[in-house]
Amino acid sequence: MSGAGTNLQALLVACGDPAYGAQVVAVGADRDGIDGLRRAADERVPTFIERVADHPDRDAWDAALTDKVAAYAPDLVVLAGFMKLAGPLFLRRFAGRTVNTHPALSPSFPGMHGPRDALAYGVKITGATLFVVDEGVDSGPIVAQVAVPVAAGDDEHSLHERIKVGEHQMLVESVGRMVREGFTLDDRSVRFGT
Ligand code: GAR
Repeated sequence: MSGAGTNLQALLVACGDPAYGAQVVAVGADRDGIDGLRRAADERVPTFIERVADHPDRDAWDAALTDKVAAYAPDLVVLAGFMKLAGPLFLRRFAGRTVNTHPALSPSFPGMHGPRDALAYGVKITGATLFVVDEGVDSGPIVAQVAVPVAAGDDEHSLHERIKVGEHQMLVESVGRMVREGFTLDDRSVRFGT
């Protein structure tokens, strides 16, 4: 997690209900002083911070982050709002069980500015995508998508805020199903159930 942590917050709320069937075992971030860490601490979920700047290079950061996450033995790793590319070690260690969300309908508008790029292109429908992370940028196999119409007069902020409403619901529903039902990954096809 890198920022506001509203996707994390949606997961924390869902996990507060035992019927949801999943638990957040830890929350990690690449910086301190962010809302997401406070939200996790409020829920008494263990937190940790691993900053790139505290390591000699990106490979060392990758190794440290991988070890930190592995120590909590997660079944699923959710890069909710994590704005950095995970390193090769991390991707290998958690291959096929790391998911992320993107505020656009993949494969359209990958990268850091999904809502801005969708507006600039003039699309009438955009949305959010939950995907299994691979080595590309927002390019992994798609778990779920939600469509969000672009409204007349939308700016980047208003569009992103509306996308986030659908994104949170999609994330909570899909992560719950992945944990409760399991899932299979076959090339680019992701299916719930085993
Ligand atoms: C989310 O909309 C997420 O999809 C997006 O940043 C926001 C983080 O919000 N991620 C990307 O654009 C990555 N390509 P949050 O910190 O409130 O969860």
